[in-house]
Amino acid sequence: MTVHDVDAVAVTVEPGLALCLKVGLDHAKSLVRLSGKPLIPIHHMQAHALTARMTDRVDFPFLVLLISGGHCLLTVARDVADFVLLGESLDDAPGEAFDKIARQLNLKNLPQFTSVSGGVAIETMASQGDPKSFDLPLMLTQVRTCDFSFSGLKSQAKRIIAHEEKRQGVSRDDILPNAADICASFQYGVLKHLARRVQRSLLFCELSGLLPKHKTLVVSGGVGSNQFIRSGLQKVCDMYSTQLICPPPRLCTDNGVMIAWNGMEKLLCGKNFSAADPEAVDFQPKSPIGEDISSSVRDAAIKLSPLKLL
Ligand SMILES: *[C@@H]1O[C@H](CO)[C@@H](O)[C@H](O)[C@H]1NC(C)=O
Repeated sequence: MTVHDVDAVAVTVEPGLALCLKVGLDHAKSLVRLSGKPLIPIHHMQAHALTARMTDRVDFPFLVLLISGGHCLLTVARDVADFVLLGESLDDAPGEAFDKIARQLNLKNLPQFTSVSGGVAIETMASQGDPKSFDLPLMLTQVRTCDFSFSGLKSQAKRIIAHEEKRQGVSRDDILPNAADICASFQYGVLKHLARRVQRSLLFCELSGLLPKHKTLVVSGGVGSNQFIRSGLQKVCDMYSTQLICPPPRLCTDNGVMIAWNGMEKLLCGKNFSAADPEAVDFQPKSPIGEDISSSVRDAAIKLSPLKLL
């Protein structure tokens, strides 16, 4: 294929690291200059959210949980470029927390984990451990929102690791004999928090009519590839007659295909998303996914019934 074979050039312009966005956008502009094709600006998180429409039949509107190393949010996708934000992380993202804990546990020192992400190492270790061996706090129980917080969970896990190293006389560079139990407990702590927020978002969508009777939850982003988290979220979806869709792992992590797909959706949806003046298109390091209605979620103050996740 050459650039003359394509219909348009889609490029991520928001949000992200300024330098990365600039490199991509500059290259896209040069392709557009060369070919005369339209330039379609793409929002990184919107692209993650819509990836499921490439692999599955998912009609608007639907709920999306985006969980990755850089993001954690709940949004309703109402149309190709129409999103409302129900809640997001107030501090860290879950993927980042997985990486930190994997590092603290020195999992990279195990030969099977030298070249995998912290998240994959934790998930693999956790499958050999008992999720109930350590009690991690449930985050943000004092506010009835769909916001997330992982920093407290992370510090508690770090305290557990330090305490166990001391108790068992294990050096800071070695692997704890009960590392699998810590991984399983931490992963379960992350799942519990995600599940509570998803539960509230489903109830909020019922209450506010944001979703139709047959609801769909799309889980995307790198952490969405975690099978333990997926199966826990499946249980929440089952409780609320909601269809759970998870794009395949290779499409869940950051990738170019999802940007191209979003460009194609924008090209074919009947509205014109092409930039009037491609040269004038600029990137935005910070940019919300859509209208923030998290204060309405807070005002609804939805109380949750117990969940059974294990
Ligand atoms: C879409 O908008 C761009 C910029 O305003 C314009 O150049 C282009 O012709 C439009 N395309 C269609 C199909 O209307």
